[in-house]
Parts: sequence; structure tokens; C-alpha cells
Amino acid sequence: MFTEQGPTVRELAVQALSSIEHGYDLLAPKFDHTPYRTPDRVLDAVRDEVRRLGPFDTGLDVCCGTGAGVGVLRRLCRERVVGVDFSAGMLAEARAAFPPEGERPAEKGPAAGAPAAEAPAEEGPAVDWVRADARSLPFAPAFDLALSFGAFGHFLPAERFGLFAEVYGSLRPGGQFVFPIGAPPPVGSRAYWSLLGFDAAMRVRNALWRPQFVMYYRTFRLGDVLEDLTRAGFAVRLTPLAGLGRRPDGSPRARLVVATRE
Ligand SMILES: C[S@@+](CC[C@H](N)C(=O)[O-])C[C@H]1O[C@@H](n2cnc3c(N)ncnc32)[C@H](O)[C@@H]1O
Repeated sequence: MFTEQGPTVRELAVQALSSIEHGYDLLAPKFDHTPYRTPDRVLDAVRDEVRRLGPFDTGLDVCCGTGAGVGVLRRLCRERVVGVDFSAGMLAEARAAFPPEGERPAEKGPAAGAPAAEAPAEEGPAVDWVRADARSLPFAPAFDLALSFGAFGHFLPAERFGLFAEVYGSLRPGGQFVFPIGAPPPVGSRAYWSLLGFDAAMRVRNALWRPQFVMYYRTFRLGDVLEDLTRAGFAVRLTPLAGLGRRPDGSPRARLVVATRE
């Protein structure tokens, strides 16, 4: 899970006793060496599915962190990509990972005789990084596509509708908000108990310690999510993320939520 370059237990403990924003500021330099960064196989599965919904000109990564979703958007959008996050530390890492064109290291061409590769990840529109709270996004309705990875656990259920309404307000009519949602682990499985245990520990921590660090795994339930999206004005559909496989009962391990501003 954690590599040698990742944070130490002490660093993780200090982070967990901070606010969400400051905690990510502290974690930022090592964030990409933690399992909290969305893995490439998830990013690839989402990209393959979302590509079918395009073309797109403008894309927004909500709670972009070090830019996992920005990398997806740069492959999908033709004109403009924006990453928004409230942690200055995470945005600094993201900026360094996606330098503007003039500052990118010179690319080597493929070796003679090597098969033509897919367009390098460095290609794509320039990125603007915006520091803002996702509960109060500073954008006009300008985007064709918004996506978000790995951040919904940081919002209390009561904040979810407001978050979705902010994304809705940032999309053009016809614009789409997409994100993956995993199937819940079977009741009684190891994953079930570990998520339950994590959320319980977090509730105790937040009852005893200030500032709060909101991060819950089991509060983002599909039925509630669909209800809040619909209430925010979206037309919603679900599609299996084929690249992430199926469970033994044949159901998809994860699905893509596609919410369209009609
Ligand atoms: C687990 S990281 C995920 C980062 C990235 N999307 C990824 O998948 O690798 C969660 C990110 O959400 C950001 N975040 C949490 N709450 C936020 C809020 N209210 N407004 C903006 N960003 C927020 C954090 O700063 C952090 O960068």
C-alpha cells in the first residue's frame, strides 16, 4: 500500500489530526506515493468510457489534488482544462507535474523500429489551477465535462447536494459530470469490516478533536447520490466500467455515474 517514498506513520498521524485542507498541504509532497492517489487503472477505465461521450472542449477536475483527473481531461478535452482544489500544497505539486509547454523537458522520439505509441500524456491543452472550495466554485457555466476522483468522502452527506449544485452551475447546458462509484463490499467481507472500522474510528476522532477531518468511506451510497444529483437538476444514468471487471455474481465492480445538465 505505502512505498518507502510514502509518508511515515508519524507524518500520517500529524496529517490526520489536522483540518482536511492543512492535512493535504502536509501530505502533498508524498501524496503520489500513497494509495489515496487514484490508481492509473481506474483513471484509464474512466477515460475509455468517457471518451465515448465526447467530444469535449473544456474540462474541470473537482478536488484535483496532484492532478490525477487532470491527466484524464487533457486526453479528452481540446481547448482548456482546469483543476480546482482548496489545498495550496496539492496544487503546487500538480503544477510541477504538469508544467506549461515551454517548461516541459524535451521529449525523446520512439526508438527506431519501435511501434508508434499513443500520444504522450504530456500532450493536451494547458492547465489552469484554481484554489477554491468545491462547496463554492468560482466558475461561470463554461465546462463541457466535469469529473472528480477520490474526494467525495470529504463531504458530509448534508453537503453533497450543495456540492453537486456547484458543479451543475459550472457546466454548460448539455455538459456532463462523471465519476466512478465502486460496488459496496459484500456485508461481512474483510473490506466491509475495514471500511466500517475506519469510519467508526474517524467518528470518534471527530467527536474528540478539533479541527475535524471529514473522511468517511460509507457515506457515499449510490441511492442517496442519485437522489442528490437529480435534485440538483441533473439527468443521471449509470454505465459499467468494463475495464475494472466484474464480481463473482457478474455485477460490475464499479460503474460510471454520468450526470447531464439538460
Ligand atoms: C484523496 S485526494 C484526491 C486527489 C485526486 N482527485 C486523486 O484522485 O488523486 C482529495 C482531494 O480533495 C481535496 N478537497 C477535499 N475537500 C475539498 C473541498 N471542500 N474543496 C476543494 N478541495 C477539496 C483535497 O485537498 C485533496 O486534494
